[in-house]
Parts: sequence; C-alpha cells; structure tokens
Amino acid sequence: MTADPTADPAAVRRSALDALTAARSRTSALTDCVEDSELIAQHSPLMSPLVWDLAHISNQEEQWLLRAVAGREAMRPEIDSVYDAFEHPRATRPSLPLLQPAEARRYASDVRGRVIDVLESAPLHGRPLVDAGFAFGMIAQHEQQHDETMLITHQLRNGPTALTAPAPQHTDSTALPDEVLVPGGPFTMGTSDEPWALDNERPAHQRLVPAFRIDTAPVTNGAFLRFIEDGGYRDERWWQEKGWDLVRGHELTAPLFWRREGGQWLRRRFGAVEPVALDEPVLHVSWYEADAYARWAGRRLPSEEEWEKAARHDPATGRSYRYPWGDQDPTPERANLGQRHLGPAPAGSYPEGESPLGVRQLIGDVWEWTSSDFLPYPGFAAFPYREYSEVFFGPDHKVLRGGAFSVGEVACRATFRNWDLPVRRQIFSGFRTARDA
Ligand code: AVJ
Ligand code: FE
Repeated sequence: MTADPTADPAAVRRSALDALTAARSRTSALTDCVEDSELIAQHSPLMSPLVWDLAHISNQEEQWLLRAVAGREAMRPEIDSVYDAFEHPRATRPSLPLLQPAEARRYASDVRGRVIDVLESAPLHGRPLVDAGFAFGMIAQHEQQHDETMLITHQLRNGPTALTAPAPQHTDSTALPDEVLVPGGPFTMGTSDEPWALDNERPAHQRLVPAFRIDTAPVTNGAFLRFIEDGGYRDERWWQEKGWDLVRGHELTAPLFWRREGGQWLRRRFGAVEPVALDEPVLHVSWYEADAYARWAGRRLPSEEEWEKAARHDPATGRSYRYPWGDQDPTPERANLGQRHLGPAPAGSYPEGESPLGVRQLIGDVWEWTSSDFLPYPGFAAFPYREYSEVFFGPDHKVLRGGAFSVGEVACRATFRNWDLPVRRQIFSGFRTARDA
C-alpha cells in the first residue's frame, strides 16, 4: 500500500495506482448509493454537499498530478475557485455553481484517465514532489480523507440506511489488563523516511517521555455511561470552562447521536437506531467530553507524544515502528480501517494489531483525542502547500491519533496526525486515558 523509497519505479507506480484505485472505489460507493438529489442536498451546515467533495477530490488531483507534476494546462480553469476549501466555508457551498452529479462524475473519470497515463511515464525522482511517488500518495490520501468526510455526511443525513457492511471482529478480551506501564526514556517521534508521510509528521526527532500508564483499549460506551449516570454532564467540577459553556449552551447530556427512550439509551448510526452497545468504544464525543470523563475517572488524556510512544516504540529494541505491530502494512486482521466495517469493534479486539507492550486498537476503530495542541515538530517545513497543515497550527486545534474504521489504510500510520476543534463531535472520535506512573 505504501511506497518503499528504495523500491524500483515499477513497484512505486503499482503502489500509487493501487492506492488511487482503492480510494476511488470507496468514493464511488459513497456517492453511488444515494439519489442525485441527495448528492446535491446539504445534510448539515457542518458539511459540504457530497457532490462538492466529489469534484473537489478531482480538482485537487488535477491541480497536483496533471498540472504540478505533468505540467499540463487546466482542464476547467473556471472551477478552481469553486472547489477551493479556503475561499468558501462549508455552509456556503450549496449556493456555488457546482458541477452537477453527472458532470462531476465525468470530470472525475476524465482526470483519473489522464492521471493513469501520467503515472505510467512520469519520472519518479529528481524533485521532492515526485520522489518515491509522493504526489500520487498525497492525492490518494487526500481522496481517502474526503471519503471519511463523506462518511460523516452520511452519518449526519436523515433517512434510511444507504450503506451496509459486515460487523467487525469480536475478540474475547476478558484477560486483557486495563492499562500498561510505558517505561520512561527517549524515543523517536515522527518520521523522515516514510515516503508518503505528510509534512506535519516530519522530521523524525528524539523525545524524552517520562514513564506513564495508558489504557490497553479505548474507553467503552459502558464506562462512559457510568460517567453519565454519575451526573457527569451536570457537574461543573469535571469540565474546562469552555467545555462547561458547551454543555450548558447546547444542553449536552450524552454523546452525539445518542437518545434516551423507553428507559434505555439508543444510538443512531447511518440511519439505523439501536441500543448503545456497552462493549464498544465510545464514539462522537468532543475533546471536552473526553477530558471531563478522564478527570472524573481520576485520570487524564495522553499527550500526543505519549500516544505515539505507546503506539510505536519497542522497549526491547529501542526502535520506533511504522505501526504498533511492526513495519508491515495494515491487514484486516490487524486493524479496523477502510470503511470495511461501519463502526468500531468491541474494546480489546484486534490482538494481532497490539503494540509490543500489549496496547490494542491504537490503529483503526476510533480516532483518539490527545491532550495536545496541534503544533509543528522542530524542523518542520511546509510541503507542498501551507494550507495542508501550517495554517492550522496553534492552540485552537487538538490532535487526534490512530485513525478510525472510517479511514483509508493509505492515510493511516502511527505517525499520522489529525486535528480538529475541541467542540467537534460529528467526527469518529473516541479516546483512551492515561496517568502518571
Ligand atoms: C487532516 C482531516 C483535518 O479534512 O480538514 C482534506 C484533511 N485537507 N483536504 C480535513 C484535508 C485538505 C483535513 N484533516
Ligand atoms: Fe480537501
């Protein structure tokens, strides 16, 4: 799935084509399953119409792979501004002159056809944009990121289920300890040699992290329910000031998509309403709710560096791996990724994906809030454009790690950094807790 920098160009081309093809098959599944009217509609002011994402994916692909890499002319110069995420906030996108579904699909397949031609013959070395197929990997990741965005739109949309998938694996995890000790000491954070790592993951650098303890699995709905039943949402003690404002202002009483009915908690997931599954990781909580729960539990959120150390450092070898299980790419046995399933597996599942210290589900299932602000690593350099990461650095955004069931494999690794506002709850966010050793 990911390109090896030492691999021969034919192997890089194959990896890039596989990654682009996998992303497109997900994009098609997410946009072919509803009527055109549903593609044009805005299902939430938080989200774009699906048809905007569809053409934005291809417009980015055209700008980077056909224009920047191959030096071609713009195919439709008049649409660039419509699909510029910075020019138009999501809430205003329905009123733009958007390509209609049939036109957007035609544009997408025209762009992709030309990209496949470029990929067959373009030089894959000699400048950073193309070395080891970087631009192709970046664009495959970008499409997978919008596939996740579109899945969020599906979750917010009213009406019957449009998407289906089998249930994820369920492992008996009764013998799993609640937490593990991560010994103190330095570890390598970030990467300089992962060929398709994005700018904010670079460069690799040493961090000294004191000993700490971390949960072996994400916090479950059952555990979160104890916080709710203990009056957690009514007790100012557990909340940061802005979190308490959020709870009062929006009368929050539970995670997003939960409701109390007939004496039980139900949740809505992709159009289906069902009882909350107590053994699954809690999903759709804001950073403030995660932080409040941790304080109520006498614990805290892990910092981003603690999370990454738990996810990739092996105390036995002193090395940092690409994933918790080692350097090999993800498989369906190791992690719940790629929208193969439409929800997280019960907490403690995926023993084949565990870290050297026995921490599970670090990759896949649910995004995990960390205590950290989104900041550049020492030596950061924006590449290839400032608007991917740099403009978001600062105290406004909190870092999420590990990916979720919603995330494509090419856009997920133990160094990958996601970020969002601490009030966000429509994303596929959960968390695990930690404490000082
Ligand atoms: C990295 C997920 C925060 O969706 O806002 C997509 C990814 N950047 N198009 C986002 C992204 C440009 C980004 N996140
Ligand atoms: Fe984008």
